[in-house]
Amino acid sequence: MKLIRTIEQMRAASREARRGGRRLGFVPTMGALHAGHIALVRAARAQSDVVCVSIFVNPTQFGPQEDLAKYPRPFERDRELLEAEQVDFLFYPEVTEMYPPGAISPTWVEVTGMSERLDGKSRPGHFRGVTTIVSKLFHAVEADVAFFGQKDAAQAAIIRRMARDLDFETRIVVCPTVREPDGLAMSSRNVYLSPLERKSATVLYRALTRIQFAVDKGERGAAALLRIGKEVLAEEPEVKLDYFEIVNNDTLEPVADVSAGALVAVAAFVGKTRLIDNLLLFGGGKQGSDK
Ligand code: PAJ
Repeated sequence: MKLIRTIEQMRAASREARRGGRRLGFVPTMGALHAGHIALVRAARAQSDVVCVSIFVNPTQFGPQEDLAKYPRPFERDRELLEAEQVDFLFYPEVTEMYPPGAISPTWVEVTGMSERLDGKSRPGHFRGVTTIVSKLFHAVEADVAFFGQKDAAQAAIIRRMARDLDFETRIVVCPTVREPDGLAMSSRNVYLSPLERKSATVLYRALTRIQFAVDKGERGAAALLRIGKEVLAEEPEVKLDYFEIVNNDTLEPVADVSAGALVAVAAFVGKTRLIDNLLLFGGGKQGSDK
């Protein structure tokens, strides 16, 4: 595995690797890797000839009160994990490489409207930071295909939209959420949870599966379904709801009745840790390749 620290070297390595029509698959991450990230790496391995993973804790997607400084950065462990997955390139730029100092009037890439929905409502500016860094990473890596997790459903929808609207050559693939045996969606932030909070955190997935159960029984009304979900969440009083919504998975607009493409998404604070989870209520939806 080749460790690459600059955009220039990354682009050169990518151009060299893609010569002769070899497909380059790309998995952008912020590190602190877990089985969810590794599933994306394996999808990239299966669907491409050359695999690039980036690790970059992107400051522009963290709010001023958020966990940028304490976000876990176990770089050596991450490097070993990726080495074991036979990743070809690890792109690991410094903050000053991606955001050179002195940028007085920075350029933002923003998918307007969608970026104010779901997490964008409670984390103003978050998705603008995500789409800006993903654009920059896409330009550096020049991948044929990039892999994202359904775990961050709003992020995946916004990036699919960005790639379409800005005619990125990189094709977007969204892979299913990987969970702990008790259903908790894997997240780099799960390490913040105390043992007690870790137990309470399973309520998110329980609420989602209860909604799925009601849908399977024939309920279609979003309001009724959300009531069911919120009742389950209330079983854990220390879990504080941020949002619980049923939206269209492409537009992130709320829907009144669920049908194909409906996404139920939840965010809640477990202690100080904000967790998110979601389900596509009719299994498939927009999962998988976009183009
Ligand atoms: P990060 O949180 O490190 O996640 C990197 C990728 O892994 C994202 O596409 C995310 O959706 C996916 N992922 C995380 N947990 C997952 C799980 N349990 N199952 C499946 N996939 C999972 O998301 C980011 O980083 C950043 O916003 C980034 C896109 C890298 C831009 O900075």
